[in-house]
Amino acid sequence: MYLVTGATGQIGRRVVRLLRERELPVRAFVRLTSRYGELENRGAELYIGDLLEDRDIQKGCKGVEYIISTHGSGSGNAQALDYRANIDLIDQAKEQGVRHFVFISVLGSDRGYEDAPVFKAKRAVEKYLEVSGLNYTILRPAGLSSNLLPLAEQFRQTGIYLLIGDPNHRTSIVSTDDLAQIAIDSVTVEGARNQIFAVGGPDVLKREDIPRIFSRIFNREPIIINPPLFVFDGVRNALGFVNPQARKGLGTLRTLLGNEFFCTPAEIATLESVYNLKLESLESFLRRYLGT
Ligand SMILES: NC(=O)c1ccc[n+]([C@@H]2O[C@H](COP(=O)([O-])OP(=O)(O)OC[C@H]3O[C@@H](n4cnc5c(N)ncnc54)[C@H](OP(=O)(O)O)[C@@H]3O)[C@@H](O)[C@H]2O)c1
Repeated sequence: MYLVTGATGQIGRRVVRLLRERELPVRAFVRLTSRYGELENRGAELYIGDLLEDRDIQKGCKGVEYIISTHGSGSGNAQALDYRANIDLIDQAKEQGVRHFVFISVLGSDRGYEDAPVFKAKRAVEKYLEVSGLNYTILRPAGLSSNLLPLAEQFRQTGIYLLIGDPNHRTSIVSTDDLAQIAIDSVTVEGARNQIFAVGGPDVLKREDIPRIFSRIFNREPIIINPPLFVFDGVRNALGFVNPQARKGLGTLRTLLGNEFFCTPAEIATLESVYNLKLESLESFLRRYLGT
């Protein structure tokens, strides 16, 4: 039995779909408020609980052999969700004799970004998992291609693309479908055991390439709105006066906007070779989903 946390999220939903396509037994950890109908229809067992409750985690882990942890807080409660819930999952995995634990981290988790609670939580979990005695695979993805689908739809309607910060910053956006497959294959591929992988798409893109790709797909000239990063900082600081917590939460987004997140060609070659797959380009992913 596979336990998938974050089963209604961008990655988790695809992990559950793929596991069910392979007719493997899956327990999807979902909240009562989550949109889990599709997962049930695909034959996943639902476990309704809250990752903020350690008792729910204990019960959700009963009898599982594999855990794929894909949940995340966004910029919300990193301490409770990205850190504590994963530590509890790892502890339960040990108790249950889980055979493999797959953890979705983030590219750059090891760069010591002090202002980014999610990055710090991910690194702390990685370290805990590495010495847990469990078989594990840690995946550090760059940005997900599925994040761009709503932006592409917006572009289709308006031609507008909002690009905050440096347009020349590089990124290796990964197909969310490829990432889901990599997560699943991590438990069986020998070369993935007890490894950490940077996970990106096949191309190193500049951020300004994204509206160009949209432009090709929709055959429409892009209108790029490009506020500099200090505008974001100004808004963030102003928000800090009324809501210091919200200001803190935006640290992860600030880190994402202010830095480059791309994989080297060597890292991509390793990934393709270990997992025996050809990574999909961003343009191909978008065309597939947007039907163009
Ligand atoms: N998105 C990116 O570009 C990106 C890049 C690198 C790494 N990552 C990492 O990849 C992972 C997945 O990202 P994603 O974009 O697929 O996430 P997502 O779409 O935001 O989904 C988050 C998932 O976590 C679940 N969740 C949140 N709070 C929960 C709680 N208290 N109890 C139970 N479940 C809870 C959500 O359930 P509900 O449906 O109920 O809200 C949802 O299924 C995250 O760890 C993220 O840090 C993401």
